[in-house]
Amino acid sequence: MKKSLTFSALAAGTKAAGDGRYPEKQAMAALHRAIDCGITTIDTSVLYGQGRAERMTGKVMATRRQEVCLVSEVVSGAANRWLSRRFCQASLKRLQTDHIDFYILHRRYPGLLASAVRNLERLRQEGLIGGWGVADFDVRDIKQLLALPGGENCRINKVMYHCAARGPEYRLLDQCRQAGIHLMAYSPFGGAGDPLLSAPVLEIIARDHRCQPAEIALAWILRQPGMTAIIEADSPVHPGRLARAKTLGLTAADLAAINGVFPPPVIRQPLSRQQ
Ligand SMILES: NC(=O)c1ccc[n+]([C@@H]2O[C@H](COP(=O)([O-])OP(=O)(O)OC[C@H]3O[C@@H](n4cnc5c(N)ncnc54)[C@H](OP(=O)(O)O)[C@@H]3O)[C@@H](O)[C@H]2O)c1
Repeated sequence: MKKSLTFSALAAGTKAAGDGRYPEKQAMAALHRAIDCGITTIDTSVLYGQGRAERMTGKVMATRRQEVCLVSEVVSGAANRWLSRRFCQASLKRLQTDHIDFYILHRRYPGLLASAVRNLERLRQEGLIGGWGVADFDVRDIKQLLALPGGENCRINKVMYHCAARGPEYRLLDQCRQAGIHLMAYSPFGGAGDPLLSAPVLEIIARDHRCQPAEIALAWILRQPGMTAIIEADSPVHPGRLARAKTLGLTAADLAAINGVFPPPVIRQPLSRQQ
């Protein structure tokens, strides 16, 4: 039985958990807490710990599937006619569900975009997935995708986007919105080990708003309409607090200060990427 799907402003990510950076029990508790706080979109992938993140997510899905918009990924090299079904069925088994709400093509495989789209459409028509999307697709990739039969059914583009990685602002965000493609920003704090959250400009604005720099970094992303930011589910700041970032209300002065340190792109910049 399918439910109507909406994306929450924040999605709970499972990469660090899948990579084994904290124990499974803690990861499952973090996902439950995130869902309780209204973070009902979950981002997982066969790539996060070679299926470990999907298995952990599946244990949570066993009791909460109806509450969640479930996003997982297929590696682009496996998006051919035979492997795509086998990969999808293996993910479904790990995820303990009969359908993935959105199945993401993890990057382009040179030359094979048309067949990948055909195979994702086939999975959609068979009901194994509710819809599909792509990751790390830039303007030219999206243009080529939209020219393919079935390409117009792409629903998500997952890209790295944060204050210090503003490449998507150069045409891509507008292009995706016009095509009805929802944007999911991964690594909103710069990615593991990145010093973004200790940037003085974010610390000063956070002090003014009496919150944490992480909340400012998320509010900055969520100022963009039709955007979801993917945070790691097990966060040092309570997810309930982070979930309020959308309503934080950055001022024009805050935005100008951030622009001063992290200027918007005036020419095309290659997308920053992380597996
Ligand atoms: N290609 C893709 O599709 C792709 C790639 C990457 C990530 N993702 C998704 O995006 C999610 C998040 O991405 P990410 O882990 O790369 O980067 P991130 O959210 O930008 O986090 C990077 C680092 O920020 C710190 N941090 C996290 N939450 C914090 C908070 N509330 N306050 C202060 N510091 C905080 C952590 O550092 P410490 O560990 O030092 O505390 C964490 O390692 C992943 O779980 C995954 O679902 C997708």
